[in-house]
Amino acid sequence: MIELNINGQPHPVDAPPDMPVLWVLRDIVGLTGTKFGCGIAQCGACTVHLDGVAVRSCVLPVAAVGDRAITTIEAVGDTPVGKRVQAAWRAIDVVQCGYCQSGQVMQAASLLTQNPKPSDADIDTAMSGNICRCGTYNRIRAAIRQAAGGA
Ligand code: FES
Ligand code: FES
Repeated sequence: MIELNINGQPHPVDAPPDMPVLWVLRDIVGLTGTKFGCGIAQCGACTVHLDGVAVRSCVLPVAAVGDRAITTIEAVGDTPVGKRVQAAWRAIDVVQCGYCQSGQVMQAASLLTQNPKPSDADIDTAMSGNICRCGTYNRIRAAIRQAAGGA
């Protein structure tokens, strides 16, 4: 058994040590808000937080998590920053098909935790690994600015 802390709860999971966290979350724990896109750390759909920092769960072996706290899209709204990000996402009506969006929200929340007042260049750099096939990039940028307390 591997002991995980997911969204503030202990979760012992029976998984092979090299199983990616994405599979553990979706197939063992039943948290399906985190999405599979590419499986090779190239799209950002699978983004979760480890101790508040965005990571690609599709390439993170479960045995590498250790004591670090995993936060997923299901609970990021319980953090002050995550709550602001989700409110801005709704206010700006960012979402189109939605598939990439849990990863976008997790990446944005991680950015604003580390850099509460990012410049546009900071936003573009932090979000550049999160692909949106619907092209919602302008609304994502606007929502991050709003969540940061800007326009
Ligand atoms: S599914 Fe993990 S980065 Fe694409
Ligand atoms: S909203 Fe459709 S892929 Fe981003």
